[in-house]
Amino acid sequence: RTVYVNGEYLPETEAKVSIFDRAFLMADGVYEVTSVLDGKLVDFEGHAKRLQRSLDELDMRAPCTPDELLEIHRKLVELNGIEEGLVYLQVTRGAAPDRDFVFPDPEEVAPTLVLFTQSKPGLADSPAARTGIRVISIEDARWARRDIKTVQLLYPSMGKMMAKKAGVDDAWMIEDGYVTEGTSNNAYFIKGNRIVTRALSNDILHGITRAAVLRFAREAQMEVEERNFTIDEAKAADEAFITSASTFVMPVVEIDGVALGDGTPGPQARRLREIYLDESR
Ligand code: PDD
Repeated sequence: RTVYVNGEYLPETEAKVSIFDRAFLMADGVYEVTSVLDGKLVDFEGHAKRLQRSLDELDMRAPCTPDELLEIHRKLVELNGIEEGLVYLQVTRGAAPDRDFVFPDPEEVAPTLVLFTQSKPGLADSPAARTGIRVISIEDARWARRDIKTVQLLYPSMGKMMAKKAGVDDAWMIEDGYVTEGTSNNAYFIKGNRIVTRALSNDILHGITRAAVLRFAREAQMEVEERNFTIDEAKAADEAFITSASTFVMPVVEIDGVALGDGTPGPQARRLREIYLDESR
């Protein structure tokens, strides 16, 4: 696999980043995951905008322009022959001379930019989308700026492990009695013709897939309600689903052991997935 590191396209075995890189020592970095369908990037512009916002919120320097980023994404997709899969991008505050909590002077330390691809045949025609996924609810123990897409992913990883140990696929996180989001996705339920999902704030990541799916849902005459909701409301819903660049629209068929509807993917979540895939190709 060919990867990109700070201006160079290299075999992955030759790619190097300093052990003093602040992302390695302090999780001082941000990332994006963009999906590839039929060899083409899905919603690159949305991801580039959110990356800029994450960088701004952390006073981090952009490593290059959005046009240059697009070029790098396209080149990696081509070099690696990705038809269906993901492009991972990470920007860090760079390698400071020593471990120090204070940010280094951005004039002296350049950001680190790393990108790689992951081929995922079957991302669109996914077996999981046919059966739906099962989730448990767990406490949301992350920091308070989940709108910034940082590489501090230890708690989400622990959440996925809790799900795995419970024999299910993922976890929805709860704070002050309300669902925030999934470990790496936004969370929704459907009751009647209405989709309910948490409103945007610092409490959740502003999903790029979320923005597109809500737009398509409104165009399809579904009602969209952006508000706090409890896990009990979701358990009593007709359908539920998650969204992310790596899952698109993924039906949820069970929450904390409670089956939704007949326990198979609901018609509206299935339809939203189809619309999303059609519109993204
Ligand atoms: N995760 N919420 C969280 C906490 C996420 O990590 C993600 C994305 C999303 C969905 O955002 P988007 O629709 O822009 O992908 C919501 C990526 C896919 C990941 O960490 O792999």
